[in-house]
Amino acid sequence: MESFEQLCRERRSIRKFTDRSVEKEKIDYILRCALMSPAGKRLNPWEFYVMQDAEKIHSLAACKTYGSGMMATASAAIVVALDTQVSDTWMCDGSIAAEHIMLAATEQGLGSCWCHVYEREDSERLVKEQAGIPDNLTVLCVIALGYKDEERKPYDPEKLLYNKVHEA
Ligand SMILES: Cc1cc2nc3c(=O)[nH]c(=O)nc-3n(C[C@H](O)[C@H](O)[C@H](O)COP(=O)(O)O)c2cc1C
Repeated sequence: MESFEQLCRERRSIRKFTDRSVEKEKIDYILRCALMSPAGKRLNPWEFYVMQDAEKIHSLAACKTYGSGMMATASAAIVVALDTQVSDTWMCDGSIAAEHIMLAATEQGLGSCWCHVYEREDSERLVKEQAGIPDNLTVLCVIALGYKDEERKPYDPEKLLYNKVHEA
């Protein structure tokens, strides 16, 4: 990847994956990047649950009526769970870690997609069951990972929402 901007351009949500499994080295690389994400007061309220059992991952496609279809073909997934008692910035910390995971995956030639779970009670129950997550943790999201089976165009810098940027 020639630049960070290029990485940002190429990270798109991928919701269809081939059945090729993700190499352990790539998962380890992604996890190292997640563990280097910043966290308020360095309290690290996150816990990452790595799923590589296809049957369990695919079962998560049913965790919501809409928006969890990518799980049906993902060959790996990382659940971002948090101890909300550890830090009042837990949601920010978890979100940043999730983005590190997605950017690292893009850099490794993988597709990824955020499947939102927080405040979707039935979804959280199923995810916790399948990933063996204890009750005291809150699941923010599951990041689906795998080799892409769909093409998404990179972002075009010409078409960015510059109206969201204000002189102050
Ligand atoms: C907080 C958050 C929650 C999201 N939840 C879902 C989801 O549950 N299901 C899904 O398919 N995509 C989900 N996405 C992905 C967005 O739909 C996607 O990022 C957006 O459409 C822009 O597309 P891009 O990721 O290709 O740039 C979520 C993204 C974020 C940041």
